[in-house]
Amino acid sequence: MAQVKFFSGEQVPLEMHKVRIVQKLNLPPVEHRLKAITEAGNNTFLLQNKDVFMDMLTDSGVNAMSDQQQAAMLIADDSYAGSATYTRLESKLQEIFGLPYFLPAHQGRACENILSQVLVSPGSIVPMNYHFTTTKAHITLNGGIVEELISDAGLEVVSVHPFKGNMDIAKLSAIIEGHGSSKIAFVRMEAGTNLIGGQPFSLENLADVRRVCDKHDVLLVLDASLLADNLHFIKNREESCNDLSIREITRKMADLCDVIYFSARKLGCARGGGICIRTEELYRRMRGLVPLYEGFLTYGGMSVREMEALTVGLDETMDEDVINQGPQFISFMVDELQKRGVPVITPAGGLGCHINVMQFLEHVPQAQYPAGALASALYIASGIRGMERGTLSEQRDPDGNEVFANMELVRLALPRRVFTLSQVKYAIDRISWVYENRHLIGGLVFTEEPEILRFFYGRLKPVSDWQQKLFEKFREDFGDSL
Ligand code: F0G
Repeated sequence: MAQVKFFSGEQVPLEMHKVRIVQKLNLPPVEHRLKAITEAGNNTFLLQNKDVFMDMLTDSGVNAMSDQQQAAMLIADDSYAGSATYTRLESKLQEIFGLPYFLPAHQGRACENILSQVLVSPGSIVPMNYHFTTTKAHITLNGGIVEELISDAGLEVVSVHPFKGNMDIAKLSAIIEGHGSSKIAFVRMEAGTNLIGGQPFSLENLADVRRVCDKHDVLLVLDASLLADNLHFIKNREESCNDLSIREITRKMADLCDVIYFSARKLGCARGGGICIRTEELYRRMRGLVPLYEGFLTYGGMSVREMEALTVGLDETMDEDVINQGPQFISFMVDELQKRGVPVITPAGGLGCHINVMQFLEHVPQAQYPAGALASALYIASGIRGMERGTLSEQRDPDGNEVFANMELVRLALPRRVFTLSQVKYAIDRISWVYENRHLIGGLVFTEEPEILRFFYGRLKPVSDWQQKLFEKFREDFGDSL
């Protein structure tokens, strides 16, 4: 993709695929959007698809599948036990990662449940580069403590650091030495670190983490849900890997890990999940939980059709032309927004474009969920559904106090191969308009706050009539445009 130069000198990402199935979209007028977001309790998770123009909530389970994936679904071997479909998936994972044992699960968080139940006990510590919402929830549910050891660069919003997802190695050594290795359940590295803007870690950093794990005899677990993006960045940003194939880089990473788990809603562009394990002993400890929570060992809650699609999707992930599309579209969007002065996380990462709300809405206090407010405002202005990734996505501390997030982000995910460049340009245009009118936007307050993972289904209302004012300004500026 990157190699194609345009005669005009313009730099645009060029798709290495063509579109053969399309889905009609609906862009409701702004009056309807205001009503829809109000009815959804200002929570974009609670919007209905019929009211959404560009669904940028997530890339989970919504990436476009390839013709080969669709074709593979037709030959799925349906049976409760011993299906050939399962054997194909298991073999593909062994071929790619080289870990001998595999346990299937219905999605990523199911893997986290199994890992946490087996490895985490009350008071044990799980050092990681950064947490993910479901990961932290499962670890804390089992009495564990999450220690985030992201390198300082990771929390710098504007940066040119190529690997902001790196772990701080000195902090890792200190924490293991401080608590003693028996207290450490495992060390977790998250590829394409989700909550800090889809930022990658380097192969070198993973090797350094491994060395510390070896020294103290602790397990290294890789969350490979966003591995595809991380692979792209290692190949393009890490000099020692420029000449390696994606397959070679993958194997080098896998060779450093004891366990690799993933959400196949992201990795492999299908729906499902699984845990690849190096030792038989660990495999046996986890195995019993699969039939209990997921399903029999040869499907683990996945449909055989999805497993076939996943097998092909994993193979396609080893193709640079396939995994380039996401990061290149994201980079285009980030660059264009920066040109317009909109504060975004840099360098562009994977997963999506991340708006830095701390700066975008500096007048809205964190206690009023500025990222949630911006996600709501953006929907009103555009019909685009983004996701709050800030204080609202945190959980309160055991005393019920609000935990302010390190970053207040609105994530605009770019599901792979789903949107066209003109749609991305529409998004850029409407975000710029919202930025011009940011002073109109106010905060949100909970009307209904669930205890666990509140961001999924909590309901909020605006602290004033700011949404009405934003709507009126839209009509003033855009006339009768949708
Ligand atoms: N780990 C990471 C890094 C993730 O991004 C996710 C999901 C999971 C684990 C859990 O996987 O959804 O299959 O249970 N991320 C989705 C997102 C939800 O929208 O970013 P899951």
